[in-house]
Amino acid sequence: MTSDKLELIKRIREESLKSSEDIKDIKSLDAFRVKYLGRKSEISDLLSSLKDLSIEERRNLGPEAQKLKKDLEDIVAFKSKELGGESADMGIDITRPGKRQKLGALHPLTKICREMCDIFTGLNFSVVEGPEMETEHYNFDALNIPEDHPAREMWDTFWIKGKKGERKSRFLMRTHTSPVQIRYMETHEPPFQIVVPGRVFRYEAIDASHEINFYQLEGLMVGKDISLANFKFVIEEFFRRFFNERVEYRLRPSYFPFVEPGVEVDIKFRGKWLEVLGAGMVHPKVLEAAHLNPRDLTGFAFGMGVERMAMIKYNIPDIRMFYSNDLRFLKQF
Ligand code: FA5
Repeated sequence: MTSDKLELIKRIREESLKSSEDIKDIKSLDAFRVKYLGRKSEISDLLSSLKDLSIEERRNLGPEAQKLKKDLEDIVAFKSKELGGESADMGIDITRPGKRQKLGALHPLTKICREMCDIFTGLNFSVVEGPEMETEHYNFDALNIPEDHPAREMWDTFWIKGKKGERKSRFLMRTHTSPVQIRYMETHEPPFQIVVPGRVFRYEAIDASHEINFYQLEGLMVGKDISLANFKFVIEEFFRRFFNERVEYRLRPSYFPFVEPGVEVDIKFRGKWLEVLGAGMVHPKVLEAAHLNPRDLTGFAFGMGVERMAMIKYNIPDIRMFYSNDLRFLKQF
């Protein structure tokens, strides 16, 4: 009995090895698989008959039969690979539920910038962008901050390395979005109102409310008889639409060389005042730098910290969370 079966194993092995040489395409591979490994194959019958044998016989035959089965499976796998992969009818169960593909999502800051721009578009502002690498002229000089002006200390600047021998070039990573004010005014006729979202860079100490790389949203409205009252209306309306609930805020006098008068706006956040934007009436010298006549035109401008607005809206205690790439945080938006 055992010797018959051992003979059978030997025969199947020889026969299958021989016929495996004729496998030339997926069809013949499939036929091979059905013949030697299918439910009605000889090896399958053999394996299911083992249970009726004595322990001694099983011990003799079992490993041989299993080894043959494994060898046949290896042949199929090898040939399948050789023929260029699996086919739909070769072991792939097309009725199995699919694997869910993980889709990426927009970063919360991108979403918030877009939301802010949408609100301003609704208030008749246009959305404009400018370069992240700026010239000293647009970032400072044209904004009434000459080289020796102490106000340059307000912005710790990443300068672009100069040519050999030069201490620095006239290029820098913009410290604020305000240079786009000049770029826009140089090329457009007032009246206009724009917002400018964008990334800015400052070489400063990082803490819960300061990053070295962050986003600002600049605003600029220029025309006849524009006043600070217009600014107050626009910003209040923006807060109302952005927060969807009442927030406590205050305007306080401040200084920026490119506005006169200047203000800062703070919002109450976790029991303390958090500064969210600087603003003011565009300085006559800035209008002149952009070739506009300050006797005919006035305007207001503001620069808002995007992360800080998002922190208040979503109760985020630390600005660094936006840049830590922690999916547990990012997935909440
Ligand atoms: C400015 O950058 C001015 N350009 C704003 C301005 C524009 C004033 C137009 C007048 C007219 P300031 O340095 O204060 O100002 O920055 C503006 C806002 O950016 C701040 O109120 C704050 O919300 C945000 N901000 C400033 N520094 C950081 C920082 N390191 N990390 C995160 N947000 C910051």
